[in-house]
Amino acid sequence: MCGIVGYVGSKKATPVLINGLLSLEYRGYDSAGIAVIENNELSVLKDKGRVANLKQMPEIENLNSSIGIAHTRWATHGKPSRENSHPHLDNSKQFAVVHNGIIENYHELREFLTSKGYSFLSQTDTEVIPNLIHYYYTNGISDEDKFLRAVKSAVDDLKGSYAIEVISKLYPDRVIVVRKDSPLVIGTTKEENFIASDIPAILPYTKDFYLLDDYEYAVIYKDHIKFFDNTLSSRSKAIKNIEWDATAAEKNGFEDYMLKEIYEQPNSIRETIGSRFKLGEKCSFDDINLSKEYLQSINKIYIVACGTAMHAGLIGKNAIEKLCHIPTEVDIASEFRYRNPIIDDKTFCIYISQSGETADTIAALKLAKSKGAKTLAVSNVIGSSITREADYTIYTHAGPEIAVASTKAYTSQIVLLVIFAIYLTENLGRSDVATTESLKADILDLPTKLESVLAETEQIQKFADKIYTEHDMYFLGRGCDYNVAMEGSLKLKEISYIHSEAYAAGELKHGPIALIENGVTVIGILTNPDLVEKSISNLQEVVSRGAKTLIITNQKLSNSNFNYIINIPEINPLVSPILSVVPLQLFAYYIAKNKGLDVDKPRNLAKSVTVE
Ligand code: M6R
Repeated sequence: MCGIVGYVGSKKATPVLINGLLSLEYRGYDSAGIAVIENNELSVLKDKGRVANLKQMPEIENLNSSIGIAHTRWATHGKPSRENSHPHLDNSKQFAVVHNGIIENYHELREFLTSKGYSFLSQTDTEVIPNLIHYYYTNGISDEDKFLRAVKSAVDDLKGSYAIEVISKLYPDRVIVVRKDSPLVIGTTKEENFIASDIPAILPYTKDFYLLDDYEYAVIYKDHIKFFDNTLSSRSKAIKNIEWDATAAEKNGFEDYMLKEIYEQPNSIRETIGSRFKLGEKCSFDDINLSKEYLQSINKIYIVACGTAMHAGLIGKNAIEKLCHIPTEVDIASEFRYRNPIIDDKTFCIYISQSGETADTIAALKLAKSKGAKTLAVSNVIGSSITREADYTIYTHAGPEIAVASTKAYTSQIVLLVIFAIYLTENLGRSDVATTESLKADILDLPTKLESVLAETEQIQKFADKIYTEHDMYFLGRGCDYNVAMEGSLKLKEISYIHSEAYAAGELKHGPIALIENGVTVIGILTNPDLVEKSISNLQEVVSRGAKTLIITNQKLSNSNFNYIINIPEINPLVSPILSVVPLQLFAYYIAKNKGLDVDKPRNLAKSVTVE
């Protein structure tokens, strides 16, 4: 849950490192630091606070080195402080390390090193790494490739997850990197090489990337890179060309990434649809070859994910069950992995992860694979860890999502899951052509209809302006509208810090209605024609107890007791969440803005949760 950057080339390293950190701040932002090799010594600048603080340190201007590593932190072991900030040095100040992940056995490693005379300045798990490297470097490592061998010996002792960069004043021409269960990519050109936790940090410099595998080492020089496997045998590696445009990862005139990403949704959905289907033709997924016999053998589908991705899974379940008649369960990854789910070779498991790096989701996928299920990853990040673990991958192609609060990834995940459900039903031979063709037409209409929803932004902003000082809000809906209510409530909590809950509208009278009193805000989502009347009755119950109501609907409501109504276009209920969630995303956004909060980097959160 931290961001790491590295550079080795001919130009000054610090601007590249700082710019890289700035674009990785979504991964953590409680402290930042940098280490470069200056006149054959390691120079380290670091402190608690954001990358902007680091950038303003006067000493940074004096660093002229063209090799360095850098880190932006999301604290796990030890509070944010200068001592706990990365990079960390060994006691002899010969090795500098930045690390993203968690070293689970750091206590015993610390005790071991302490018994060998090492001392520690921080409370972090990371500080054992440079000291272990020093220990092995000075204890019996042969001279050949001594630096790499010392790093490898240290890494062999680590349990947990890590993406690590190491530099040494003894080897001022190279950066050594290794990873396990934490992301790390290397951007490459003929004269310089870049390292980062995520692609957008180095997109301004290159589109050619190496995606490091677990337990793989890279020794990175300015004009070449050597790759090694876990036994230090050298290996060759193919370059991957990443099509993302660097400007797609910038704000393009929007005040925040979140607002930009909300507005990008008509386009991101166009990209998700891509050429996966045309009217009158079957849906196709080039990278999936599941035989009809296998598809017919599936007796259960699990959709597993966390947070917003899990909410997208709930909508996917509805589409799969309605179109394919296969029982489908949605699970929170952190629960699934420990509840001993019933899985066999007739179970098909879908894992949704925008980042593709969420530790719980990856672990849940590995579990299903080990029990013989086939696994499908739905991800936005090409080459991310989950895509390398899964049997099959389908990409959302929503473009880089930088804001911590997920918006366009969610809508793209839903679109892709619904298209996948159509693909399944067509390949199972269970599709009703009229139904699927009309659904396809509605999917193709989504971008235009979304544009018309976005045109109502001002109305939502007005409502947000009136109620942003409140402390509790409730979201209600039935069926998929309830699933959207859950997503609206999560969005509000995470960026505005307002307490909110989502309830299935029919469940209200079984307890939660006790919370409704004069002036409380209740947001109702009413888009499914079959369920609208029932939800209206439930909302009526809160109106009569004094609640203020905001209604998102695509129906003509006879009842006008509600305070605000946002009308959205009508569409097939299987995809209506894509339209109804947008007012809720905007609602959360404007409430947070009114409260003067940093919407892109909400407190305590990180974009990519690579720890359990
Ligand atoms: O990268 P992932 O899709 O695996 O992330 C899953 C959740 O951590 C993520 O959706 C989180 O809930 C978002 N911050 C919500 O906006």
